[in-house]
Amino acid sequence: MQQEMMGETPPAWQITRREPGRWEAAQQRDDGTTATITLICGDCLEGMSGLQPGSIDVVVTSPPYNLGIRYSRYDDSIPREEYLEWIGRWAAAVKRVLAPQGSLFLNVGSKPSDPWVPLQVALRVGDYLQLQNTIHWVKSIAIDPETMGRAGREATPLGIGHFKPINSARFLNDCHEYIFHFTHAGDVPLDRLAIGVPYQDKSNVRRWRQAADDVRCRGNTWFIPYDTIQNGKTQRPHPASFPIALPEWCYRLHGSNAASLCMDPFLGIGSSALAAARLGLSFIGFELDEGYFAEAVARLEARACHMESSQGRGTAGVSRR
Ligand SMILES: C[S@@+](CC[C@H](N)C(=O)[O-])C[C@H]1O[C@@H](n2cnc3c(N)ncnc32)[C@H](O)[C@@H]1O
Repeated sequence: MQQEMMGETPPAWQITRREPGRWEAAQQRDDGTTATITLICGDCLEGMSGLQPGSIDVVVTSPPYNLGIRYSRYDDSIPREEYLEWIGRWAAAVKRVLAPQGSLFLNVGSKPSDPWVPLQVALRVGDYLQLQNTIHWVKSIAIDPETMGRAGREATPLGIGHFKPINSARFLNDCHEYIFHFTHAGDVPLDRLAIGVPYQDKSNVRRWRQAADDVRCRGNTWFIPYDTIQNGKTQRPHPASFPIALPEWCYRLHGSNAASLCMDPFLGIGSSALAAARLGLSFIGFELDEGYFAEAVARLEARACHMESSQGRGTAGVSRR
């Protein structure tokens, strides 16, 4: 399955503003309302300080992990205490802008030689919000046919998905990351079946009334492989981006109807914005690095906006204010 291209093609977004450091687009919905996407190049702490308290319904984000990843601008190897203090500062800012029934989906990874970062980050965010669910984002999995019951009889062993190989005698290849789901009080109802899966054993469908639609909760292990790419520089020009399906599943799990405004304080190359665009959701995102910001804008224009303009890529529908 091409994770980046799930579902039907939604109507195109119209670019409404394009200036250095700020990009906006809008989409007319069938019910007469307008969805908007705003991308801002700048520090998220400063950006969030300008938002109304309780105005954001869903945050899906992945901050820098402080693992020494080579971003083009951000220094990803600051002293751990300083890093965690900064985590606390933006967590407090997210708490302020998060709606009472809002969700923060926080993706954090680690490296085998520094395994505590995700848990340290979750603990620090837990000073402000309550951990409601812990999801494991599985990037790659090996499935042995004998564990698959009837479905596996004819199958051969399967290893699916991409991961960064770890060349070590002590550490295993690292094939997963965390997605911590935080809410204000741990009591936010979710649309579990929006990302549900069919029952393998269909007798459940007959036995249980709630299984009549042949769809069950997917659970907290999400297999979302990266797309296969030939050229990282052009096809994934960011050292730590997540697949578009990851934020898409988070938005749908929270409930697209309950997501009036989504946010990503660490936008990177815009995967969370693209997922919102696909679902017709309003979105605001911040990215410090001008290069990644430009790439996010280019991806939005190429994939979500009109392309018919004679002026070239993504310029149709632009009204410069
Ligand atoms: C893990 S990456 C996010 C990648 C993103 N999820 C994607 O799919 O492209 C973290 C990003 O946060 C940005 N960043 C770091 N500090 C920031 C800040 N204070 N405000 C806004 N962005 C920041 C970095 O430049 C980096 O692109």
